[in-house]
Amino acid sequence: MNRNEVIELQHKRFAVKKYDPNRRISNEDWDTLVEVGRLAPSSLGFEPWKMLLLENKQMREDLKEMAWGAINSLEAASHFVIFLARKGVTYDSSYVVKLMKEVKNRDYDPTSRFAARVKSFHEIDAALNDERTLFDWASKQTYIQMANMMSAATLLGIDSLPIEGFNREKVESYLKEKGYLNTDEFGVSVMASFGYRDQEITPKVRWNKEAIYEVIE
Ligand SMILES: Cc1cc2nc3c(=O)[nH]c(=O)nc-3n(C[C@H](O)[C@H](O)[C@H](O)COP(=O)(O)O)c2cc1C
Repeated sequence: MNRNEVIELQHKRFAVKKYDPNRRISNEDWDTLVEVGRLAPSSLGFEPWKMLLLENKQMREDLKEMAWGAINSLEAASHFVIFLARKGVTYDSSYVVKLMKEVKNRDYDPTSRFAARVKSFHEIDAALNDERTLFDWASKQTYIQMANMMSAATLLGIDSLPIEGFNREKVESYLKEKGYLNTDEFGVSVMASFGYRDQEITPKVRWNKEAIYEVIE
């Protein structure tokens, strides 16, 4: 891919307002996007995330009144994802101990030097000192995951929409009531829809380069 093509692709990724309800992403393409999400980078490699693919029609309908920014997506997008961010991911949490052992194949002891580094990064450098700041840190990681999936979607000719237009508290209690969310473990971070547009691509409006870019010599 040459440089022009790289930029052209950025123009093809746009926030879809109107999906074609009759076109569905193939299983192969969808599996590819999920794999891109699984492989996304995360701070400390902690992967503090989970994706919920919302296939249930009634639940899509129910969510409309809690997610004003997702109405057309819930109605017509081929795939609709709720990104969950893990709560309480601290150096000594059982999640981190399990991740280290089962995924990273590393001996992990919360009293080790590596654990001390994680603790000081979290508690001092990044000042993640309460439930909310820790949750927000995990949420940031899910945005990287979502962005990578949207970029990969563009490469596959699939359109997408990132979605923050929802009431977190309402969505969380709804998903909890339905049995799909353990709020001790996860919170809702962000959502995204994927599918095929039923509209023209809208041209980009952005600050020029000078306004957003500075070189320190
Ligand atoms: C994190 C995030 C959340 C967003 N939430 C919504 C949303 O709830 N509903 C919506 O229609 N657009 C949403 N957008 C789309 C933005 O409005 C859009 O990306 C922006 O205006 C730039 O337009 P473009 O994506 O077409 O280049 C969101 C974008 C981002 C990055």
